[in-house]
Amino acid sequence: MSGGAHTGSILTIDLDAVAANYQTLRDISGSAEVAAVVKANAYGLGVDRVAPVLNDAGCRTFFVANIAEAYELRSLIPPAEIHVLDGLMGQPPERFVARNLRPVLNTPDEIETWRSVSAESDRPLPADIQIDTGMARLGLTADEAETLLARPDWNREMAIDCLISHLACADEPGNPMNARQRDAFAKLMPRFEARRASLSASSGMFLGEDFHFDLTRAGVALYGVNPTPDTANPMAQVIQIQGEILQVRFVDTPQTVGYGATHRVTRPSKIATIPIGYADGYPRSLGNTGIAVIGGRKVPVVGRVSMDLTTVDVTDVPDELARPGALVDLLGPGNDLDDTAARAGTIGYEILTRLGSRFERRYIENGNAGPA
Ligand SMILES: Cc1ncc(COP(=O)(O)O)c(C=O)c1O
Repeated sequence: MSGGAHTGSILTIDLDAVAANYQTLRDISGSAEVAAVVKANAYGLGVDRVAPVLNDAGCRTFFVANIAEAYELRSLIPPAEIHVLDGLMGQPPERFVARNLRPVLNTPDEIETWRSVSAESDRPLPADIQIDTGMARLGLTADEAETLLARPDWNREMAIDCLISHLACADEPGNPMNARQRDAFAKLMPRFEARRASLSASSGMFLGEDFHFDLTRAGVALYGVNPTPDTANPMAQVIQIQGEILQVRFVDTPQTVGYGATHRVTRPSKIATIPIGYADGYPRSLGNTGIAVIGGRKVPVVGRVSMDLTTVDVTDVPDELARPGALVDLLGPGNDLDDTAARAGTIGYEILTRLGSRFERRYIENGNAGPA
C-alpha cells in the first residue's frame, strides 16, 4: 500500500509459519519429496513472498495451475522445477520449452503434441501425465490410458517425469474411495514407465505411507488449513485478519442493526463497527454467525456483513478495549481459518483465495513483521 494510505484493515501473513508447515509435511513424508502448490497467487497469500520462503526452506518443486502463473514463478525462482497442472491449454508447446516448464498432459492429444515437439528437440523433453482415477475432471480416462498404452511407440522420444492423479475424498480417511483410487493408480503406474509417481495433496499425505509414492503436492496445509479435519490441526496458523474499530454505538430496544434489520438488540448494547466487509473477502454468510476476538474475548458478529463494514456486539467488553482505533480480530487465534470457514459454510481454501486487495498486508519473516 502506498505511503499515507490507510484502510483500517490488516492482513498479517506469517511466512515463518509457512516454512514451519513445509518442514512438518516433510517430516511425515519419509523418503517422498514434498512439492509446493503455489497456484492462485499462493492461495491468495502472495506468490512473490511465499515461493522464495519455500525455496529457502528446501522446496525445489512447485506446481501452478497455468502458464501465466508459471512464467511469474520462473522469474521469481529461476532454478525452480515448475509443473503446470492445467496442461498445454492450447498454447504452443514451445512456450513451455522456452521457460523449462513441465506441463501436466491431460489428454491423448496433448501427449501427441508434446511427443512431436520432443522428437524435434535435441533431448527428450520432460512432462507429466495425469490419469483420472475418480475425479472426472482432468487427465486420461481408463479407456484412454489403455488405448495409449497399447501403442508400442507412444512415449518414444519423450521423457515422462511424473505420473499424476488426484484423490477425491482424501479429507475423509474412512472413505473407501481413497484405497480404490490408490490401487487403480498403483496398478497403472509401472506401465507408464514414468520417472516418478504423485498421488496425494495435503490431506492425502496424512492417509499413510502407501499414499505418498515419490512426490506429494502440498497446497492448503502449507497455508494453515487443517488437512485432517476430524482431528487437531497439525499445521501452524498463517493468517490473521484485523480491523480497527471505527465507531462504538450505544443502542437499546427496539433498535436493530444493519441491512434488513436482521439483528434486534434485547438489552442496552454497544455495537462496534469495523471497516472490513464482503468486498474484502469476509464472507457475507458470517452475518449473525461470525465470531470476532477483542482483548482475548470472543464477541459475536451481529447484523448482516455489508460491503465495507461488519458490526460486532461488544457490550461485555470494557470500554478501554472496545474503543475507536482498537484492533479486533475477525480471523486469528480463537477464531481460526477452519473455524471461520465452517461458520461461513465454506472451506478455508475459499476464504484464502478470496482475500481482497484492500488489506494492509504485513508479512512476518524471520520473526520480524513488516509491510508488504
Ligand atoms: C491436482 C492438484 N494437486 C494438488 C493440489 C493441492 O491440493 P491441497 O491444497 O488440498 O493440498 C490441488 C489443489 O487444488 C490440485 O488440484
